[in-house]
Amino acid sequence: MTDKPANTMWGGRFAMSPAEIMQEINASIGFDKQLAPQDIRGSKAHAAMLAEAGIIAKTDAREIAKGLDKIKAEIDAGTFEFSRALEDVHMNVENRLKELIGPAAGRLHTARSRNDQVATDFRLFVRDAIDGIDAALENVQQALAEKAEAHAATVMPGFTHLQPAQPVTFGHHLLAYVEMIARDRGRFADARKRLNESPLGSAALAGTSFPIDREMTAESLGFDRPMANSLDGVSDRDFALETLAAATIAAVHFSRLAEEIVIWMTPQFGFVKLSDRFTTGSSIMPQKRNPDAAELARAKVGRIASAFQGLVIVMKGLPLAYSKDMQEDKETTFDALSSLRLVMAAMAGMITDLEPNAEAMRAAAGRGYSTATDLADWLVRELKMPFREAHHVTGAIVKAAETKGVDLDQLSLTDMQAVEPRITKAVFSVLSVENSVKSRTSYGGTAPQNVAKMARQWLRRLEKARSKV
Ligand code: ARG
Repeated sequence: MTDKPANTMWGGRFAMSPAEIMQEINASIGFDKQLAPQDIRGSKAHAAMLAEAGIIAKTDAREIAKGLDKIKAEIDAGTFEFSRALEDVHMNVENRLKELIGPAAGRLHTARSRNDQVATDFRLFVRDAIDGIDAALENVQQALAEKAEAHAATVMPGFTHLQPAQPVTFGHHLLAYVEMIARDRGRFADARKRLNESPLGSAALAGTSFPIDREMTAESLGFDRPMANSLDGVSDRDFALETLAAATIAAVHFSRLAEEIVIWMTPQFGFVKLSDRFTTGSSIMPQKRNPDAAELARAKVGRIASAFQGLVIVMKGLPLAYSKDMQEDKETTFDALSSLRLVMAAMAGMITDLEPNAEAMRAAAGRGYSTATDLADWLVRELKMPFREAHHVTGAIVKAAETKGVDLDQLSLTDMQAVEPRITKAVFSVLSVENSVKSRTSYGGTAPQNVAKMARQWLRRLEKARSKV
């Protein structure tokens, strides 16, 4: 087992091959094979640059490019055999290239190290992932804005402390998430901007003595510029941290929405219905309809936040430049980003599927003296009462209603006048939930006309962004 150098890539000075357990702890091919498309893109750009700069022959560069295309096709077809003895995706690809094109393959790694190679591959991967995530976030916004437009005037209770607070509209509630997701998209876009510099050409850590053209590789890989410091180039993982932080915050948003769907679906609330497409049954209780997709969307934030935290801990205290610790950056990042993609797809599906029960929402909106603030505002407006006093008077009226066991708009004028004699029957105009929401016309408020306008604005904005691509 340990009698011959096993690794033809770096085994020159080694008399023995690595112990089984060394291979096991060292190999990353099990997960970094996901970087193969980015690895091949990076290698093609590097080889073309080497030829352009006169560092390798143009004929060799052509062979290398052809071989790499062939490898890409093999990987796409699922026929490529990844080997653990070759450790990682970089050496697997290079080894196959040698099988395909012979000695010219050995020229590809000129003026390059796996350190800048993996930094480049991983950056490209995260950048691709951000682009996919942005499109998926936009999708969820679209689903939310469409639902919001349809339910701009559907009244539901608004909560604070999960206690009925003031009536709002369902559309207004959904548009809150559209705003949150807009900030998520902003965070990913910011991360992408800072990410978009090329580490390629940093080589192992110190740069290279070959006359490479880093601008050229940066440009051909779609980066804005080469990174300015080779030590930073190989050791920076901020781009993954920032992206995971953005993913964590987005996942927090989705977990809040998922939790609301779970609550709204309980028979006690009965605010919304999800179809069979997004619910499951119980193997023992035939009556059950469980919101599993929402529950899982609520839970995925756990692994996404852990990936962020895990990478923070890996990077903390790492001296410059590259250390093998950094190989631990990938597996959890891959998992976190694909988990987020799953959550977003499930969310978009659930939002589109979800049917609100307007009756149940309306009834609940009227309970819990939810228009008490409207009463207090009326006392301020009509009787010129200071708000603090109006708050006190309203409290007494709520208490009277509670004693009688009725809602505020059911309480008689006489009962109200027993608390404040100047109250007139005009007060009833503000006590219904419809009038309550209608009156909240301040910018960003829940009035149906506001909500309809906002929803339409979002739909137009999303439409415009789509037509630009
Ligand atoms: N598989 C390695 C990683 O993911 C590639 C870089 C290896 N570099 C090295 N000097 N051993 O980090």
